Amino acid sequence: MNIILLGPPGAGKGTQARILVDGRDMIQLSTGDMLREAKDSGSEMGKVVADVMARGDLVTDEIVIGLIREKLAGDKRGGFIFDGFPRTLKQADALAQLLEETGETLDAVIEMQVDDAALVARITARSTCGSCGEVYNDETKPIPADGVCTSCGTSAAFKRRADDNAESLKQRLMEYYKKTSPLIGYYYAKGQLSSVDGLAEIDDVRAEIAAILG
Ligand code: AP5
Repeated sequence: MNIILLGPPGAGKGTQARILVDGRDMIQLSTGDMLREAKDSGSEMGKVVADVMARGDLVTDEIVIGLIREKLAGDKRGGFIFDGFPRTLKQADALAQLLEETGETLDAVIEMQVDDAALVARITARSTCGSCGEVYNDETKPIPADGVCTSCGTSAAFKRRADDNAESLKQRLMEYYKKTSPLIGYYYAKGQLSSVDGLAEIDDVRAEIAAILG
């Protein structure tokens, strides 16, 4: 099964993707994570995308489509969760073509509906485990008092993202509404769109997604 989690920054895409990876042996394909890895590795591509990401702009379609193309050629396990991809109509068309070429189908597109005001609070309170990437939140899912990640059991440094500030978030939201939100209509017209309440508790969102996926 291959699915897309669609929603603005902070909607909870990464949080739910990790739950699906654990529960259904699916593979999370987060273009944001791939780009951050490239940035941290100091590769040529990483240098190109670093400033773009810090500003909250979108990286070029060619770069992200190339990243996804590579991953689709690899291990498929229980299927792919596209997290943060596609983000433009061009990326959506490219994904449809890539899936067709590899004989795969797109089984669901899940829109995570949230309220913009909640996003600022969520994003500025977010941190992740430096070892396994488990997502935490100062308000709703604090780092355990003993500093040990509940997911991987290590006490690695917890990280905050360079673009998790009010200024970048404003631009990330602007990019979402200008370039990514048209995908809601695109997938609705294709009969593939389902929506969940992203403002509900994490476990309730999980249950709503599980009901859609069956
Ligand atoms: P990316 O890494 O994809 O970031 P994003 O889309 O902005 O999404 P986030 O990771 O910020 O949020 P999320 O929805 O995963 O929320 P999370 O689960 O962490 O992209 C970063 C940048 O890379 C882009 O700006 C762009 O430059 C570039 N890029 C990436 N992909 C690209 C593409 N395809 N094309 C072009 N450029 C691309 O949750 C957020 C917080 O809320 C956490 O603290 C979490 O604990 C908490 N939380 C989650 N769910 C709930 C809940 N139900 N209730 C309460 N708290 C919750």
